[in-house]
Amino acid sequence: VNRNEMNNKEQVINNTVLFVQQELSNAEGGHDWFHIERVWKTAKQIAVSEKADPFIVELGALLHDIADAKFHNGNESIGPEKARAFLETQEVDAATITAVENIIKYISFKTSYAANSYQSPELNIVQDADRLDAIGAIGIARAFNYGGFKNRKLYDPAIPPAVYQTPEAYKKNEAPTLNHFYEKLFHLKAKMNTTAGRKMAEARHQFMEAFIARFYKEWNGEA
Ligand code: ADP
Ligand code: NI
Repeated sequence: VNRNEMNNKEQVINNTVLFVQQELSNAEGGHDWFHIERVWKTAKQIAVSEKADPFIVELGALLHDIADAKFHNGNESIGPEKARAFLETQEVDAATITAVENIIKYISFKTSYAANSYQSPELNIVQDADRLDAIGAIGIARAFNYGGFKNRKLYDPAIPPAVYQTPEAYKKNEAPTLNHFYEKLFHLKAKMNTTAGRKMAEARHQFMEAFIARFYKEWNGEA
């Protein structure tokens, strides 16, 4: 492969797809390659109406969950490091690598507890795309899949939703999956960064509300 080909952005994207597919081959169903593929597609779509570097958006979307701290004993630095090591093999320029690394570092809900120390149009887009995949029909499926993976209850009327004061408390919680809607998913609509993202969040949010309303009805033997 000559240098020209190695530097070709399309080739780098293709190689990144293969790398991520391989890395996530044993991932839990809500954080697998198909999650990445959906976020990638949505991010590209949002990027059309935003001023941002599409190469950084695509790489950030593809690599954002390369090593989720949740599945690596809370270690937050493995993901960014893995992405950097991979992108260096692809001869991606230093500024792009740093931008992608920062997307992976700062995309998480957990970091929203801290004062946001990093911002970029590319992060805004990838974060919106990731949040959109956590709401709506897909979001419902992922939440219950995650809850099953963690052996959580679907719902328990005796355990009300909580407000977690620290990221540690949020990570440690073993609440029923239905609580997660109130603790996180219903808040995502208001956190969207981009106009296109906000618009897409609307229908997905409404679908979750209808789902929850119906859930309680059926729980109580109505309808
Ligand atoms: P972030 O890294 O931005 O905090 P997560 O990785 O926690 O986001 O969330 C990814 C997916 O897993 C989402 O679909 C989310 O709803 C789901 N998930 C995370 N925590 C829980 C939980 N406690 N109960 C149910 N689903 C969860
Ligand atoms: Ni994700």
